[in-house]
Amino acid sequence: MKYLALVVLISLVAFKPKDNFGFKVPNGWPQPKYTFKTNAITEAKFKLGRQLFYDPALSADSTISCASCHLQATGFAHTDHTVSHGIKGRIGTRNAPALINLAWSSSFMWDGGVNHLDVQALAPLTSPDEMGENLKNVVKKLGKSSKYITMFKDAYGSKLVTGERILKALSVFNIMLVSSNSKYDKVIQGKDHFNEQEANGYKIFKHNCAVCHTEPLFTNDAFENNGTTADAYYKDYGRMKVTRNLRDSLKFKVPTLRNIEFTYPYMHDGRYKKLMAVMSHYSTLDKNSAILSEKLKSMQILSDKDKIDLIAFLKTLTDREFLYNSQFSFPKE
Ligand code: HEC
Ligand code: HEC
Repeated sequence: MKYLALVVLISLVAFKPKDNFGFKVPNGWPQPKYTFKTNAITEAKFKLGRQLFYDPALSADSTISCASCHLQATGFAHTDHTVSHGIKGRIGTRNAPALINLAWSSSFMWDGGVNHLDVQALAPLTSPDEMGENLKNVVKKLGKSSKYITMFKDAYGSKLVTGERILKALSVFNIMLVSSNSKYDKVIQGKDHFNEQEANGYKIFKHNCAVCHTEPLFTNDAFENNGTTADAYYKDYGRMKVTRNLRDSLKFKVPTLRNIEFTYPYMHDGRYKKLMAVMSHYSTLDKNSAILSEKLKSMQILSDKDKIDLIAFLKTLTDREFLYNSQFSFPKE
């Protein structure tokens, strides 16, 4: 009993849910990696972050908001484009990833080039192919808006608009994007059942995929080479760009598979539009490749039925409560 009380006390000290505006660690999930200590989640900060996320004023010509590339109904990914489109129709080099369960991520971007969520937004803000703006200008623009000044006061206790406050409010919005109410979750909680196809798909998944797309987050939060070859045009070698280590050639951040039904097109460059194409990718790997992850060398050959069953399982990761949660949508007031 004493021991139990101690464990409860330690976990309360380590993570105080009541300070964090409804942010909850779902049952059976690991502790998040985000440093809540330096940025407590509050309702006022969330509101500010949500306003900022949907505000095109964050871009140089006030045409592009975060939500232009990260759309809620598609898990905050962008399904119209293989690679992202920014201000003045400028084209980026990578596919906009889903924004889901980021509190559990230790690094960001397809190559992990950003190591803390609180600085992540600087990348799109300043990238000439995305929002093409700088933080100083955004601070100036927002500082002229009485609506924002009130929101900053509510969130931080003073009217001061600063770059750090903008970034931390955006983090809070991102942190709140928790998806944990799919059919898969209900099955794990004993509240629902897989049909025969889904159950067989789950078996194949655990056998071949879960080493990297690890439950319950469906990512191992690592960089892996899954056999995606370099695109002749973008020549994107992924993680190697950050570490300059040849062994990291064509390694990319393992993406979550939650809501995968809607986050197409797939892979860092959006090369596959359909889940069936991804299945074909994993069935035709070059197992002699020196850089292919060891974890894929024992990958079974997938029959047509296996592929269909796997896709049926992947669709159980769709969480409509998350995709249509009005808390995360464009702030109308
Ligand atoms: C022009 C399209 C575009 C805009 C605008 C944009 N993003 Fe992104 N976002 C991307 C792309 C593309 C990536 C992947 C970049 C990479 O890997 O280098 C990304 C990556 C991210 C990631 C990392 C996700 C992960 O799992 O590692 C986060 C978080 C994010 N964006 C949040 C934001 C926020 C917040 C804003 C607004 C300040 C924003 N984005 C604006 C396209 C965009
Ligand atoms: C060695 C680790 C590893 C294994 C095993 C693995 N994957 Fe992946 N998976 C990745 C990586 C890394 C990516 C991203 C690659 C890229 O962007 O080029 C990815 C991407 C995906 C995507 C696209 C996600 C998106 O948002 O674009 C799907 C779908 C997927 N994998 C499904 C599967 C399935 C199904 C299996 C089992 C048959 C599997 N994966 C096995 C590492 C792995």
